Amino acid sequence: MKFFVDSAEVDAIAELNDLGLVDGVTTNPSLILKSGRDILEVTKEICDMVDGPVSAEVVALEADAMIAEGRKLADIAENICIKVPLTLDGLKACRVLSGEGHKLNVTLCFSANQALLAAKAGATYISPFIGRLDDQNIDGMELIADIRTIYDNYDFETQILAASIRSANHMKEAALIGADVATAPPAVIKAMANHVLTDKGLDGFMKDWAKTGQKIL
Ligand code: G3P
Repeated sequence: MKFFVDSAEVDAIAELNDLGLVDGVTTNPSLILKSGRDILEVTKEICDMVDGPVSAEVVALEADAMIAEGRKLADIAENICIKVPLTLDGLKACRVLSGEGHKLNVTLCFSANQALLAAKAGATYISPFIGRLDDQNIDGMELIADIRTIYDNYDFETQILAASIRSANHMKEAALIGADVATAPPAVIKAMANHVLTDKGLDGFMKDWAKTGQKIL
């Protein structure tokens, strides 16, 4: 499973990138707002830093305007992935822009039928939002599993990008189901390394090592 970082915070992305844990980045208008940065400038910095795709989202609601915005975002760098919402206009823009050779991430997916439409429109990635479904007492992971089945039934090449991930457990469940990618906030990715028994075991090893009086270097 590839790891994308769901953030527009350059320092947080750089920290994970240095750990070799960044296969790509996803942003959205809310994350751009949170960063306090200009979308074109911050997206360029992120694109220069990471090797993988960097999703940048259009904000127009009508297909022609989405296409124009998508082309402008794609000019930022070669690794831009244009993000469009899962509306009929978004699907139309997806079809046109993917036909031009761009990578497309269709976002705000909350149903298997929406995911089926995105695959038909030539999306590179479909982004089902797990956490926001869980917030509505609907099992977000069930949606990931349904999309996996549908895409496998027809050998669709569209990759499942599990999004709105809120916990390390979400990462594990998405991996068990076979999501191609999971995008998560930096804190969630880092939390995957945590285990109380690791901390306890390391503490014991350090105490015993100190008693040996030895040094490795
Ligand atoms: O990738 C989409 C993600 O940013 C949405 O996450 O936590 O706002 O539902 P959240």
